[in-house]
Amino acid sequence: MWFFNKMCTSKTRLDGKTVVITGASSGIGKETARDLYARGARVILACRNMEKTNEAVEDIKNNPPSWVTKVEYKNNVGELAIYLLDLRSFKSVGDCAKNLLTNEVAIHILINNAGMAAASSYEKTEDGNETTLQVNHLSHFLLTLLLLPKMQSSSPNCRIINVSSLTYICADIDFDDINLERSYALFKSYARSKLANILFTKELADRLRKANIHGINVYCIHPGIIPTEVLWRMSNNAMKRQQMRPVFIIQTVAFPLHIGRQTIVITPKNCGMYPVVFYIWNQKKISPHF
Ligand SMILES: NC(=O)c1ccc[n+]([C@@H]2O[C@H](COP(=O)([O-])OP(=O)(O)OC[C@H]3O[C@@H](n4cnc5c(N)ncnc54)[C@H](OP(=O)(O)O)[C@@H]3O)[C@@H](O)[C@H]2O)c1
Repeated sequence: MWFFNKMCTSKTRLDGKTVVITGASSGIGKETARDLYARGARVILACRNMEKTNEAVEDIKNNPPSWVTKVEYKNNVGELAIYLLDLRSFKSVGDCAKNLLTNEVAIHILINNAGMAAASSYEKTEDGNETTLQVNHLSHFLLTLLLLPKMQSSSPNCRIINVSSLTYICADIDFDDINLERSYALFKSYARSKLANILFTKELADRLRKANIHGINVYCIHPGIIPTEVLWRMSNNAMKRQQMRPVFIIQTVAFPLHIGRQTIVITPKNCGMYPVVFYIWNQKKISPHF
């Protein structure tokens, strides 16, 4: 139940910090945006659906997170901005990065949060990659590398947070069938992309250290089992949805949305002693076992 979850009690402010969050139009990303906006950050919602993201912005502006009163919220918030980003397309990632590099003075925190598990049948992107792998991992990889110079010039105290999932424990990566052409399954593609998030985090931290780039810490987190669209879509046919409904209702009560942001929110504020830490939903650190 929610009261067993550890909540972030810190009131740390993020005035003057710029945060980019992918997939902030709904779910955990939107809740994280709400929290960081309340702390005074300039929060950039990098999303593909402009109508939905505009609605998210209105919602965030009008509804504070539970730890702040409406009056405090009104007077102490940061800024919200929207950038177009469709992670199914490398071109869109490149355009988004270019716009961010041109328009933003600094980027202090990058939260690679967007994720999908919706491809019920096998799909490839225009770039020729299995869609879930590209959306959840490859495009975030590209976005991160394109934004790194700006983050480097914005350091110290910069953070890159990759939102993974404990489902990674079910995954492996078959480099002979990297596009899963021979063995596609929805859960398999999702879990594999989440393992890729962790491997990317680990490698990025190693390379930053070897290149003597300090002041950018890299994290990977599992936010919990939160009843969001991604979880709902995971049950990919009507029959399974009927079966999932009671589970979903229990989860909605047990793990409300604001729980999902806790792990992400505490991560930017913890000056990391460790460059790569895998945080899980109750904010405990676990060491990656590879
Ligand atoms: N919920 C859980 O229990 C759980 C557990 C472990 C890990 N996670 C991870 O948490 C992260 C957030 O998921 P969530 O639970 O908050 O699900 P969600 O509510 O479905 O949010 C996913 C977000 O990703 C965006 N997105 C999907 N495809 C995209 C694309 N091609 N380009 C740009 N944005 C795209 C969605 O945008 P649209 O609105 O346009 O679709 C949405 O804003 C994901 O990485 C997920 O894997 C979730």
